Amino acid sequence: MRAVLLGATKGMGRALARLMAERGDALFLLGRDREDLARSAADLSIRGAAGTVGTAHCDLLDPSSFAPALAAAAQSLGGIDTVVVSAGVFAAQEALEHDAALRDRLLTADFTNTIHFCEQARQHLLNGGSGARLCVFSSVAGDRARKPVLLYGAAKAGLSHYLTGLDHKFAAQGLKTILVKPGFVKTSMTADLPPPPFAGEPDPVARRVLRAIDRGTPVVYAPAAWRWVMLVIRLLPRAVMRRIGF
Ligand SMILES: NC(=O)c1ccc[n+]([C@@H]2O[C@H](COP(=O)([O-])OP(=O)(O)OC[C@H]3O[C@@H](n4cnc5c(N)ncnc54)[C@H](OP(=O)(O)O)[C@@H]3O)[C@@H](O)[C@H]2O)c1
Repeated sequence: MRAVLLGATKGMGRALARLMAERGDALFLLGRDREDLARSAADLSIRGAAGTVGTAHCDLLDPSSFAPALAAAAQSLGGIDTVVVSAGVFAAQEALEHDAALRDRLLTADFTNTIHFCEQARQHLLNGGSGARLCVFSSVAGDRARKPVLLYGAAKAGLSHYLTGLDHKFAAQGLKTILVKPGFVKTSMTADLPPPPFAGEPDPVARRVLRAIDRGTPVVYAPAAWRWVMLVIRLLPRAVMRRIGF
């Protein structure tokens, strides 16, 4: 694989990048912190990534950084066949309700600009011919509106909708879209939150996601149990959703 990863300096993205490095994929990292990128690239090289692991600055809050970052990746890798977007922002519902600037950043990063990035990535992938894969981390929070993740979930619901549509529109042209729906996973993003039942770890999640990328599975819940948890939650009547705090 010749893969570009946005958001692989931490959490699930880092676990996934390490698995890809260990099997000898060629990797290029995008992110906003140059030192983190350099450290992560060195780590992936030691783990077996093919060739040099290149890096480029790319900030989800700065769409002008997208085109140069993807162009640098395409040049370094000699074309891109896989793009993974695990970059994302989370904030507590209470904080988002009271802080309009934080709300704007989260909605812009997780919805608008992730879509802008994917639109540019899609063009690189379609230019690369067959075997193209776009894997993007959304969330189970987008499956049903819930009080504790109302705003974050709204952004992820929109993102999931977009990715589902990409699959419908571009599958016939050879683009495989892999929509990842993590449940609660223990990463820096959730470090301040009490883990619920079925909380997962980044490594098993990464193994599940990589299998989905290889197979071109359109939707993957990770950990797997969240598929059934969300099935039940989607079936709950509105009156119940109004009463419960989940
Ligand atoms: N953990 C969970 O329970 C959970 C559940 C559902 C969905 N998700 C989603 O899964 C994805 C990965 O989550 P995670 O838990 O692995 O998160 P994480 O450990 O916090 O890692 C997030 C990554 O995104 C990058 N990032 C954040 N803001 C960015 C920006 N403006 N521009 C570029 N990169 C940026 C971070 O880089 P920096 O070091 O620069 O911040 C980091 O590499 C996210 O989309 C998240 O919403 C997570």
